[in-house]
Amino acid sequence: MKKLGLADLLAPVTVPEFFSSNWPVEPLFIPATPGKLQEIFDLAQMQSLEQLVAARQRKVRACLPDFDDEYSSIHLDPQDALKVYRNNMTLVFDAMQTQDPTIANTLKNIREDLGLVTGGEENNLCKARSIAYATPAGCGTRLHFDANANFVIQIKGTKTWRLAPNESVDFPTERFTTGSEEMPAALETQCHAPLIDMLDEDSMEVVMKPGCVLFVPRGYWHETTTEEESLSLNFTFSQPTWADVFTKSIQEILLRSPEWRELADGLEGTDESRKEAAISRFEFLVQSLAADLPEISGRVLLKESRLV
Ligand SMILES: [Fe+2]
Repeated sequence: MKKLGLADLLAPVTVPEFFSSNWPVEPLFIPATPGKLQEIFDLAQMQSLEQLVAARQRKVRACLPDFDDEYSSIHLDPQDALKVYRNNMTLVFDAMQTQDPTIANTLKNIREDLGLVTGGEENNLCKARSIAYATPAGCGTRLHFDANANFVIQIKGTKTWRLAPNESVDFPTERFTTGSEEMPAALETQCHAPLIDMLDEDSMEVVMKPGCVLFVPRGYWHETTTEEESLSLNFTFSQPTWADVFTKSIQEILLRSPEWRELADGLEGTDESRKEAAISRFEFLVQSLAADLPEISGRVLLKESRLV
């Protein structure tokens, strides 16, 4: 079996071109070329929605019509999926990597080719997932951005995407959908300008046809519509930050010290004197660490925590 990876996904764009012009912040639309990703297109479950449903071993998500966003969804048994699809609800097939080895291997290869840090299975800093979306005609996803980077392969039918750069927040660690009543607290502290609620007329628009590939960077605004039925397969990767790398590596080092392994005792609760003692203890530990920090080397942290 041919090993599919990032080069196959991006062809005829080369991996070096992608790294210098796109990854991780600029979108890329790659028109279809004959024979590309044939191993994926040949999979039985990619032949039709009926076959995808028949092969499904776990629940399927159906997006509720109230909000046209995948986070307003319910979990269904596969045998009920086609019925709701015919009632104009988008179906989301999470964890496609668990039901096919070609998809699982491709996902893993792309993650490795991108050079995303995982820190091994115990740390799992980069969550990689493959998701299939079956969208009926006349549906869509409302304007949103994701915290993950996303590669979309159009398998069947067409889907129109509109995209725009995010001028309100750089490198968000949370997703956001326009019209949501609440913004995640972390995102609120990350935004430097109000979020938009619609795209400009002249936003980038691409029509995804079978074989087309689209890279949607983390944080990039996008909305989709379908005029005919659409089936797409996504490879999506969480974006481990320097903050993640630092906290993981420093945690590994701190846990070698009995003082840092002590129970963080008394921080919550009603006993004010215990709480005050706990805060003082933490203050002492943090000050001691701050005193040591000038000696700490990023290279050594990464090495000692086995992140490189
Ligand atoms: Fe999205």
